[in-house]
Amino acid sequence: MAEGDLTGDGGPDSGRKVLEVDRLAKVYAASRSSGGGGGTEAIADLTFSAARGEFVALVGPSGCGKTTLLRCVAGLDRPSSGAVRLDGAVVRDVQPSLAVVFQEYTRSLFPWLTVRRNVEFGLHALPRRERSARVADSIEHVGLTEFADHYPWQLSGGMQQRVAIARAIASRPVTLLMDEPFASVDAQTRAQLESMVLDLWREFGWTVLLVTHDIDEAIFMADRVLVLSRRPSRVLRTVTVALDRPRDQVETRALPEFQQYRKEIFGLIGTAG
Ligand SMILES: Nc1ncnc2c1ncn2[C@@H]1O[C@H](COP(=O)(O)OP(=O)(O)O)[C@@H](O)[C@H]1O
Ligand SMILES: [Mg+2]
Repeated sequence: MAEGDLTGDGGPDSGRKVLEVDRLAKVYAASRSSGGGGGTEAIADLTFSAARGEFVALVGPSGCGKTTLLRCVAGLDRPSSGAVRLDGAVVRDVQPSLAVVFQEYTRSLFPWLTVRRNVEFGLHALPRRERSARVADSIEHVGLTEFADHYPWQLSGGMQQRVAIARAIASRPVTLLMDEPFASVDAQTRAQLESMVLDLWREFGWTVLLVTHDIDEAIFMADRVLVLSRRPSRVLRTVTVALDRPRDQVETRALPEFQQYRKEIFGLIGTAG
């Protein structure tokens, strides 16, 4: 393969695994309120990797450690053992090449700043002209140009989540982490946001790690779905989703193969121990 030649030394895949999670474990220390008993073992032993440009979804029962995992990947939290590597370097701190979109858009946006200022936040190191061009472009990519001078509280939930996505775009990430980003919006908005993110992913070539508890969403969006066990979580199964792209909300979901993936993953989660 042509890309293999560009990686130089190492094996054929060495330059392509942008993200590696290697035997990651996370135990939260016991709090006083828990009576000083043992801590919470959130993640037992998690290993997986994502290639550059790959869209990986993680599904698993509530409380199995998905948010904990994303926080470790983002450098917001430290694993108890094991490591996360981005482009071969161990993550110990927040990475500029990585952006995160959380479920709670109401908490991730500043209510006292306009859409434009929210998206601009964090770009202060850029020269002014470049900064405003990048902000305008990012807002346009999520279809909110007309609302650039509105405040978050003047927007619907779906629109607020678009602002959070615009902010991620503006930081020009290589890797995008999303933690149940569409869980708080209605079904129709959710479908629109899913399709929008797939379009953006194609355009920007991000490596994406999407956490969702919605199995259909995981299949619809991802190249691979990692099915996690109950806490302390492990990878139960990796399901490669070989559905054509671009994917369509109605046609893709109606395919017999889609139903087959659904059945397989529901079966796994139902029996997850
Ligand atoms: N900061 C924390 N301190 C102590 N326990 C935590 C903390 N964050 C999460 N936990 C616990 O770790 C487990 C996994 O939580 P989380 O990663 O939020 O799961 P998920 O996102 O899959 O629902 C849960 O039992 C949760 O209560
Ligand atoms: Mg969570």
